[in-house]
Amino acid sequence: YGTIGIIGAMEQEIALLRQELQSEETLHHAGITYHVGLFHGRKTVLCKSGVGKVNAAVCTQVLIDRFGVDAVIFTGVAGALDPSLEIGDIVISRSSVQHDMDVTALGFARGVIPYQDTSEFPSHPDLIRVAKEAGERVFPGRCVIGKVLSGDQFIAGRDLVRRLHEELQGTCTEMEGASVAQVCHMNGIPHVIIRSMSDKADGSAHVNFEEFTVESANRSFAIVNDMIQRL
Ligand code: ADE
Repeated sequence: YGTIGIIGAMEQEIALLRQELQSEETLHHAGITYHVGLFHGRKTVLCKSGVGKVNAAVCTQVLIDRFGVDAVIFTGVAGALDPSLEIGDIVISRSSVQHDMDVTALGFARGVIPYQDTSEFPSHPDLIRVAKEAGERVFPGRCVIGKVLSGDQFIAGRDLVRRLHEELQGTCTEMEGASVAQVCHMNGIPHVIIRSMSDKADGSAHVNFEEFTVESANRSFAIVNDMIQRL
């Protein structure tokens, strides 16, 4: 990979990366700030997309068109859907789906984007492998490969968690990954999503999110930091 694009949605998700990046240039495009520089000697473009699928999609397309990135890594926090996950655990995307895409009234299954070649966007096998190996080095036994569900909703209820886990087989839920994945898929660019659990998307989610986002975001960073040296 020549140039790597790294996206986080919120300041907490890119804070440590910004410290580590030897920044050469800062540019603005469509309301998003891009830091171009070297990260462990590798050409990297780091950005904070903002929250939600539209921000993440715009950010990803700009990374591809203007900065010519050859791969995209998303780093941040998520709500756990798989009941075996604890706060802090890591999910690496095998694939991702937009759980709020709902054309069920016309007979399409939940999450299906009508007339699209696919609605479940696979992450790149090499990036998954390198991320998983990094995860096992940094947080042994606390790292799984799974399905990321994205939607423009902060999930905070047991019933919703059960539905997203049972109906869509989601491992965790967040608000950007699958839109990054779709844009990468449309452009033929490899990607992977790395998420550390800040909460369990249940009735305590808002409290846990406040308490654990910084720590979990930093755990996700630790994996990116390790994997980038082995790409
Ligand atoms: N990001 C972190 N926790 C989340 C949740 N419960 N729902 C959506 N996005 C999240």
